[in-house]
Amino acid sequence: MIVTRKSYGMSRGSWGCLLVLTLLLAAPAAADVTFTKDIAPILQKHCEHCHRPNAIAPMSLITYEEVRPYARAIKARTQLRNKPGVMPPWMLEKNVGIQGFKNDPSLSEQQLTAIAEWADTGAPHGDPADMPAPLTWKGPDEWTIGEPDLIVRSKPFSMGASAPDWWGSFETVPTGLTEDRYIAAYELHEVTNARTQPVEVTGGAPPSAGLSIIHHGTVTALGPNGIPEPGGCCPIHEVGRNADVFDAEAGKLIRAGSSLGFLSIHMHANGRNTTGHLEIGLKFHPRGYTPRYRNTGVTVATNHDLIDIPGGATDLKIDGTAVLQENIKLTVYEPHMHAAGVRFCLEAIYGTTTETLNCSGYDHSWVLAYAYKDDVAPLLPKGTILRIVGYYDNTPANRNIPDSRNWMGGGHRSIDNMNVLLGQGLSLTDEEFAVAVEERNKQLGIKGRQVVIGCPTCGGYQEEALE
Ligand code: HEC
Repeated sequence: MIVTRKSYGMSRGSWGCLLVLTLLLAAPAAADVTFTKDIAPILQKHCEHCHRPNAIAPMSLITYEEVRPYARAIKARTQLRNKPGVMPPWMLEKNVGIQGFKNDPSLSEQQLTAIAEWADTGAPHGDPADMPAPLTWKGPDEWTIGEPDLIVRSKPFSMGASAPDWWGSFETVPTGLTEDRYIAAYELHEVTNARTQPVEVTGGAPPSAGLSIIHHGTVTALGPNGIPEPGGCCPIHEVGRNADVFDAEAGKLIRAGSSLGFLSIHMHANGRNTTGHLEIGLKFHPRGYTPRYRNTGVTVATNHDLIDIPGGATDLKIDGTAVLQENIKLTVYEPHMHAAGVRFCLEAIYGTTTETLNCSGYDHSWVLAYAYKDDVAPLLPKGTILRIVGYYDNTPANRNIPDSRNWMGGGHRSIDNMNVLLGQGLSLTDEEFAVAVEERNKQLGIKGRQVVIGCPTCGGYQEEALE
């Protein structure tokens, strides 16, 4: 509104009118956030992949009629930001550590505000003409990595509604590959009939609350001789885990005549008699591709015997450390806890400096991997101490706890606990590492001394140490 110079000459009365006018203009502005104009585009981009008929989520969030009853729940779940239960599932804390992740589905502050305003002003429908064109989906189990070049299906498995936890291996399945290929991206789907099965056991929400019965699965590439391939092909799958797009310079080899082994599977009942199978989707690098770097796992774990969580414990911290034996570019930050875990942090200690690389909420129904963007992925020299800090909540506030009166220790069942960083990285020689640090300094335009979180020898610190 242009009220500049001209309005200086106004009488008191006209100021009053202006005030009323301004209020009148401001009031509808708050209610201006509508489903068709503002909310539907957010839901299409961030929610519909799961919230549509026959997909993983319990309800569809496409039409106004479907969404309206959930307006308050949508506000509540999105406002959780990095806490367990947040929608979309992504619990990275944005106010500490490195920012910049591939395929980050989280909502911006602006989107969070729009959703909150919309829910608080009666969730108005808005002008139907503003509604974005509907998205088209091919099927219930669409791949987030795009259509895979190869899909390998496990043999079927099943589990009774209240069956005890089960550990074991599924039968090995040939990939059918007739040539060596490098894997660029990997995604695992658990396909079951759970949705159509009646709930037979309720109460004490199982950690894999919902449709899933595969708590975790280790999928391994076995060479033509049946022996696991060095480097491994596939990250450990967990309930609710997202897909992996590997570092473009470090594809993983899968050879002609190889098979996939499902060597360490853990199943946990979901309250329904469930039958299903696993589908592994692989996308390949073009033929003739050769990787520049070698992949490596970056694991830090607390000994299970040191995990001691009294009944009713809240905000309990457990830590663990490991020293890097080689130079690492950390490409994926992946906390792994179990039912009692609610938060996790990763620190890097180098020389006299301790930095928090990242913190995130943890929800054992949504075990997520966070892949760093290439230009911020931590460059950690040999000798760096990685420290993990897990935070545990053994109270009813944690919906993954069956009975918070129980003491909990470490172990493999979903209701036992772990404190693990299941990181992925590239191992770099001293020369490769020096080049990577130099490239990072150039990229960031660093000249003098400057702290770069996640790169302790960036910013001129290396030279100083050598002087
Ligand atoms: C990766 C799949 C996925 C995505 C993406 C996703 N959801 Fe969900 N959502 C689920 C599943 C599965 C559940 C049920 C299990 C749970 O509550 O964690 C759920 C539960 C919910 C609930 C609770 C329902 C209830 O009965 O109270 C709300 C609300 C919700 N989602 C809203 C959203 C919104 C809004 C978005 C996008 C901003 C979104 N979700 C994105 C899978 C997803």
